[in-house]
Amino acid sequence: TFSWMVSIFLWRLVSLSEGLEKAARVGLRTLAKGLAPGYLRFGGTKADFTVFLPDDNHVKAQLWEYTFIFQNKSGKSLIKYLKYEWPLQEELILRNENQNIFDYQTISGSSVDMLYSFANCSGFHLIFGLNALLRNDNNVWNSSNAEQLLKYCQSKQYRISWELGNEPNSFEKKAGIKVDGSQLGKDFIHLHNILKKYPLFQSSSLYGPDVGQPQKHRRKLLNGYYVDGRDASLDEFLSPAVLDSFIVEKIVPGKKVWLGETGSAFGGGAPGLSDTYVAGFMWLDKLGLSAKLGIDVVIRQVFVGAGSYHLVDSNFDPLPDYWLSLLYKKLVGPKVLNVTIFTHDGDQNRHLRVYMHCARNNRYCIPFGDVTLIALNLSKKTTTIHLPKYFSSKRIDAYRLEPAGEGGLSSRNIQLNGKLLVMVDERTLPELTGSTLPVGSPLQIPGLTFAFYVIRDANVSACK
Ligand SMILES: *[C@@H]1O[C@H](CO)[C@@H](O)[C@H](O)[C@H]1NC(C)=O
Ligand SMILES: *[C@@H]1O[C@H](CO)[C@@H](O)[C@H](O)[C@H]1NC(C)=O
Ligand SMILES: *[C@@H]1O[C@H](CO)[C@@H](O)[C@H](O)[C@H]1NC(C)=O
Ligand SMILES: *[C@@H]1O[C@H](CO)[C@@H](O)[C@H](O)[C@H]1NC(C)=O
Ligand SMILES: *[C@@H]1O[C@H](CO)[C@@H](O)[C@H](O)[C@H]1NC(C)=O
Ligand SMILES: *[C@@H]1O[C@H](CO)[C@@H](O)[C@H](O)[C@H]1NC(C)=O
Repeated sequence: TFSWMVSIFLWRLVSLSEGLEKAARVGLRTLAKGLAPGYLRFGGTKADFTVFLPDDNHVKAQLWEYTFIFQNKSGKSLIKYLKYEWPLQEELILRNENQNIFDYQTISGSSVDMLYSFANCSGFHLIFGLNALLRNDNNVWNSSNAEQLLKYCQSKQYRISWELGNEPNSFEKKAGIKVDGSQLGKDFIHLHNILKKYPLFQSSSLYGPDVGQPQKHRRKLLNGYYVDGRDASLDEFLSPAVLDSFIVEKIVPGKKVWLGETGSAFGGGAPGLSDTYVAGFMWLDKLGLSAKLGIDVVIRQVFVGAGSYHLVDSNFDPLPDYWLSLLYKKLVGPKVLNVTIFTHDGDQNRHLRVYMHCARNNRYCIPFGDVTLIALNLSKKTTTIHLPKYFSSKRIDAYRLEPAGEGGLSSRNIQLNGKLLVMVDERTLPELTGSTLPVGSPLQIPGLTFAFYVIRDANVSACK
């Protein structure tokens, strides 16, 4: 099964929200609500450089204490890493560097309030990534800061799930601190025991370890990143080989596997690609493939924030991947069906990628066994999909997504069945309606586009 999620990777949002225009804030919430329910993961690299300081008044005094810890353990490589990982924050880093302050950040009680209220009111369950780099001299995780946060959240009755550390495999590179699996395991047990002390968190979930690269050849797999953002070309985004490289193995039998942080490219995304129509091929394929491989949850990096792989840009306008995600949530249910497409010669068609799920029940009634077909046409060659005879008399609603306006594949606008997708106003998302095809007609997806087809009253027994 496949449950859906969207993560917001939003250190920045928290600070942004304070200064945000009301209209933008409302709009952002409307966009988030559209994708609910799901998880909002507050995590990523910066989680391990974030310290909770409940009372803003004490920020200055404690700042130095924590700065000192990072200064000692990380040295210059930290600055180098952050620069590489966070091009957008370079300015701030340079400023801090000049002042000899390392780039960690604090999160105050009121920021946690804002984050929780954003998540809760948008219908998302918050997963908070605790800082695993706060360590004692003997390299044991120092939980005192986490406990302050837990106490705070308990007092406010915030129901939250937890993570400890982001990509511990790269702690050494990021912060000059090496933590092996065995120590990390002990730290998790320690955290688990702490959680048991709080009535609110006794049964809350603890996710992890959030491993990025357990082995070299799995780099792409668990990291969830396809291509290096700085080298990606349009061709790579469309290549079936790149899409096929996305294979996941279950490392721990019996445990559920999540893709905790995934975009269509890493290093902040590929500018001009990750935020355009063409990125949709990767995103849709990743969703389809993850579900097929039994990945339980896919968390998209990012909803809004750094890089160019966001769903919503810094003007709070939704990008093609946002609309694609919205349609996905609306039409695609958790149950996956096995579907293969063959050419006339009986070969598998590699340029046409298809996935089939039971349709989502909030719109299409499950008792009728509706199914949703997702199709990506990666080719310019003429091909047409003929569905099995079983479906020949069924009503099919098509949702064709094509780039809109200038720019073709690199367009930042998208149209659904010929109509440009935009918010109606800051509180209203447009109606996403399908166009009903003549009964029995083959499916024609224009070249280099993708589409959803809902086969109504399909009477597929697995979906009833
Ligand atoms: C930082 O390193 C210096 C020199 O190695 C040491 O004297 C000092 O105690 C360290 N400070 C902290 C907070 O670890
Ligand atoms: C939001 O908070 C309320 C009250 O604590 C809770 O009942 C509800 O489940 C929360 N919603 C989500 C999505 O976690
Ligand atoms: C944990 O960190 C806190 C805050 O820096 C410090 O006061 C405390 O002594 C540390 N605990 C241990 C066991 O080192
Ligand atoms: C899916 O269908 C293909 C082609 O018919 C078959 O080879 C494969 O074993 C099936 N997979 C599952 C999980 O049933
Ligand atoms: C894929 O695109 C081509 C045009 O490039 C089109 O002729 C073909 O019909 C499309 N494939 C499908 C399955 O519709
Ligand atoms: C649906 O499928 C069942 C068998 O699974 C069959 O008995 C029934 O007649 C079908 N209903 C329709 C409306 O096709």
